[in-house]
Amino acid sequence: MVEIGWRGHRHLLSIDQFSRSDIEDVLGFSRKLRPFSGEGSELSILRGRILKPMFFEPSSRTIDRHTGAILTMGGKYNPPLIPEASSMEKGESEEDTVITAAQTSDILAIRHPERYAPHKFAKLIDNLKSNTARVINCGDGSNEHPTQTLLDFYTIAEELGTLDGLTWLIVGDLEYGRTVHSLVKGIQKFSGNKVIGFPVDELRLPQEYRPNGYHEFNFDDLANVASEIPRGARVVLYATRVQVERIARKRYPDYDNLDEIKKKEIQNGIYKEFKYQITFKLLDALPEKTRLSHPLPRGNEIGNDVFNSHSPKVVPIGQMRYGLPVTMAYLALFSGLEEMLHEPERYVTSQPIALQTV
Ligand code: CP
Repeated sequence: MVEIGWRGHRHLLSIDQFSRSDIEDVLGFSRKLRPFSGEGSELSILRGRILKPMFFEPSSRTIDRHTGAILTMGGKYNPPLIPEASSMEKGESEEDTVITAAQTSDILAIRHPERYAPHKFAKLIDNLKSNTARVINCGDGSNEHPTQTLLDFYTIAEELGTLDGLTWLIVGDLEYGRTVHSLVKGIQKFSGNKVIGFPVDELRLPQEYRPNGYHEFNFDDLANVASEIPRGARVVLYATRVQVERIARKRYPDYDNLDEIKKKEIQNGIYKEFKYQITFKLLDALPEKTRLSHPLPRGNEIGNDVFNSHSPKVVPIGQMRYGLPVTMAYLALFSGLEEMLHEPERYVTSQPIALQTV
């Protein structure tokens, strides 16, 4: 039997499992690791540990920050699971595939289209006679994306200096957006926050995720509400993509069996139905201490002009960079290595090499 580990949880499955002080500690360790999270630095904290990316759904950011974090911390990763190139193609079940990976990897970073699938796999591993592998939930269907919330919190804490007393304007697909679900649960652990939802059309926040004091308006009311926010307020405008693939699956039961061209056609049609966009006009109407945050990927909800701007109010690109130290921190914590995070500078194996300028 393995020692349980980080604050009573062997696996990282839900934001619910973190107390306020757990989250503050993850963010504190992320801050300590940030100077080592890029530009050639390497640490030995996770030397000998192997991570297996098991993404049963596509990803750009989450998969890369996990492989990037394990390498930066001195560990390795096994090739990311590609179901069609694995023994699943010969009929092996997902369960057996996960059990197999747990025999050769220490950390399984799992994303799956079904709600609670990583929880199910974690239980399976716990019931094995002997196994020490840990599961990180990298997104379970439309339920949660807890590691995204840790990095969203880190972003806002760095940008606005606090996670208390904020006004959170949460916009877009609140029904299927798993980053929103973890986020609103997490916000409740801090104090004095107001959470106001602005779903596009009927993509409203399900009851099970609604925090106390939650208010919801239509997206079209956002400009009016924005104009009434006191100028001194600290505001997070958290925009999200419409999860067209989940809406498509609900509408077309055989969606997953359609060819890629047909899928794109359906997705584009759904995008057109749920049009909304964050403009500079809206950002200008919000207080100075506002940050536009987005977990990405984006659809049309943030245009290129806003996305690529250097405005201090626009943080989605920086948010991706913040993801690396946060991932490094929780991978080490869930590997039982908290002690080493107090003085990461003791474990530096390679220093950044200054790039030559011409
Ligand atoms: N934010 C996020 O989960 O992005 P990916 O889907 O690219 O991993």
